[in-house]
Amino acid sequence: MFSLRGVGRVLSRSCWKSLEVSRQRLAVVSMSSGARPRVFISRRIPEEGRALLAATCDSVAGVDGILCLLTDTINGELLDAAGPNLKVVSTLSVGYDHIDVKECARRNVKVGYTPGILTAAVAELTSVLLSPGIRAVENGEWGTWKPMWLCGPGLDGATVGIVGFGRIGVTVGRYLKPFGVASFLYHDSFQKPVEASELGAEYASFDELLAKSDFVVACCALTDETRNLFNASAFKKMKNNAVFVNTSRGGIVNQNDLITALQSGQIGAAGLDVTTPEPLPTDSPLLKLDNCIVLPHIASATHKTRAAMAVLAANNLLAGLRGDRLPQEVES
Ligand SMILES: NC(=O)c1ccc[n+]([C@@H]2O[C@H](COP(=O)([O-])OP(=O)(O)OC[C@H]3O[C@@H](n4cnc5c(N)ncnc54)[C@H](O)[C@@H]3O)[C@@H](O)[C@H]2O)c1
Repeated sequence: MFSLRGVGRVLSRSCWKSLEVSRQRLAVVSMSSGARPRVFISRRIPEEGRALLAATCDSVAGVDGILCLLTDTINGELLDAAGPNLKVVSTLSVGYDHIDVKECARRNVKVGYTPGILTAAVAELTSVLLSPGIRAVENGEWGTWKPMWLCGPGLDGATVGIVGFGRIGVTVGRYLKPFGVASFLYHDSFQKPVEASELGAEYASFDELLAKSDFVVACCALTDETRNLFNASAFKKMKNNAVFVNTSRGGIVNQNDLITALQSGQIGAAGLDVTTPEPLPTDSPLLKLDNCIVLPHIASATHKTRAAMAVLAANNLLAGLRGDRLPQEVES
């Protein structure tokens, strides 16, 4: 079973109309002429990207592509189903943990993604999860003003630890600096002296960062190395009043361990834009905790960002169909 339901069936039988997405004009247009490339768009995307594909598809004949989302698993089974015409997979996301990149490379299928253009939106939302919102988590009840009510840690004078000091991680640091953060620590697979000097950030081992930070912010990609990185052992190393923020991917957290850490007071609070699974079942203990905020994976959800993502994903797809290097190509 592959989770991009029906794609193989659709691609192999050219049965576009049976899909929800076939309502999009591109798919219908693709059926109407054998000269046009076949492009599968796995969901409705902003008009800017769709229109770009519809307008240009005529000029790139004979190859096929898939425009997918982070919720679509692109694995060997899906690639088998797509068949040998497939030249490019373009994801409407910067994360590509849902794509078997090695398998794509083995089949000469290019993979495109959307780095950079969503950095500001994601860093903005990540910063919000660290600040006042995290304190306003007590069952949504608004009583009269009380001296001890909804108190939590502030950024002024705090130590912020960023795990994954890439585009988003560095930008989160930039956004938080004016709030009076006393020190930034970062942990990454690589030391990044240039970005660090701008913030006055210091490199720390993972354990040191956990032990010293008032706020621990996860901004790393989901990989084999980072899966379940934040587990019981990690939470035990954190301060009891520490705030943990994750806008990366749910898979980097052992969610049961996080729930235990929040319930037991091992850590102070958490702000999450990503969970496992998504959507989170409504009976998840995470949603009942009064020291946890859960958002429905909306960090990049601004009109401007999503439109830019759609255009870049469309351009990646078109370049792949032409056999060109993609504007933003994942290196395998
Ligand atoms: N919530 C959302 O809507 C949303 C939106 C965009 C991106 N994201 C997530 O954010 C991630 C980061 O995006 P980015 O544009 O900053 O990517 P990036 O590649 O610029 O940054 C990721 C950083 O993580 C580091 N890293 C990799 N393995 C590590 C490890 N084991 N330990 C510590 N650091 C490690 C990398 O070296 C890199 O510096 C994406 O992969 C995606 O999963 C989420």
